[in-house]
Amino acid sequence: MSVLELQGVRKTIGGDNVLRGVDLSLRPSRVVAVRGRSGVGKTTLAKVAALLLKPDSGLVYFNGLDTSKLSESELSSTRLKYIGYVDQDCSLIDELTVWENIELPLRLMNIERSNRAGIIGEVVEVLGLKGLESRRPRELSGGQRQRVVLARALVKKPILLVADEPFAHLDDETVRVVMGYIRQLASVSGLAVLITTTDLYAGMDVDEDYYLVNGVLVRRT
Ligand SMILES: Nc1ncnc2c1ncn2[C@@H]1O[C@H](COP(=O)(O)OP(=O)(O)OP(=O)(O)O)[C@@H](O)[C@H]1O
Ligand SMILES: [Mg+2]
Repeated sequence: MSVLELQGVRKTIGGDNVLRGVDLSLRPSRVVAVRGRSGVGKTTLAKVAALLLKPDSGLVYFNGLDTSKLSESELSSTRLKYIGYVDQDCSLIDELTVWENIELPLRLMNIERSNRAGIIGEVVEVLGLKGLESRRPRELSGGQRQRVVLARALVKKPILLVADEPFAHLDDETVRVVMGYIRQLASVSGLAVLITTTDLYAGMDVDEDYYLVNGVLVRRT
């Protein structure tokens, strides 16, 4: 069964028909890329997939449940427990340190302090953030911020990762490491992954590759 299934999703924003019938199935252990030029609707699609934005029409199933039937509080607890979202703007809480930012979802999930450190330490290590734990977000580079946001998304061991242009500020070698970690989580823990990118050409180690064009997804390979 799919973790997330979009059927005929349409979304108009500011009078613009951004999504015009998107069908997409995100299955456990599969990594899916959506490529598209700036302004085509990748963020809109990512937000629908992360249950942050409701479509005007069409269906969104999460774990087989029709999400239009869920209340706001059910939606937000589903997001908190099961969905890691990497927003394009790399939003972090300025008053908290890197470690505290990454820890936040675990605190919200009432996971005991003694159980938090191990997983945070692992993600910090793998994503190359060691030594930065006590900094504030404003003391980070763009690529470091991006990895902290990714760490915050992964630390709760979600079943779905939606990452909106997660590699925009990263060098090729770091992209390789980060992608390797995401792939490992997919194969070991069954994580389903959606990654968007404006890169229309670069080779990507993904299972399904799509272009978002004129509001619909077109298979690349
Ligand atoms: N709040 C808004 N009000 C009006 N129009 C909006 C709003 N948000 C997005 N749009 C428009 O919707 C369209 C899709 O935007 P979206 O952010 O999904 O594109 P994108 O593919 O993520 O672009 P980028 O690669 O630049 O991030 C764009 O034409 C954008 O101008
Ligand atoms: Mg965008």
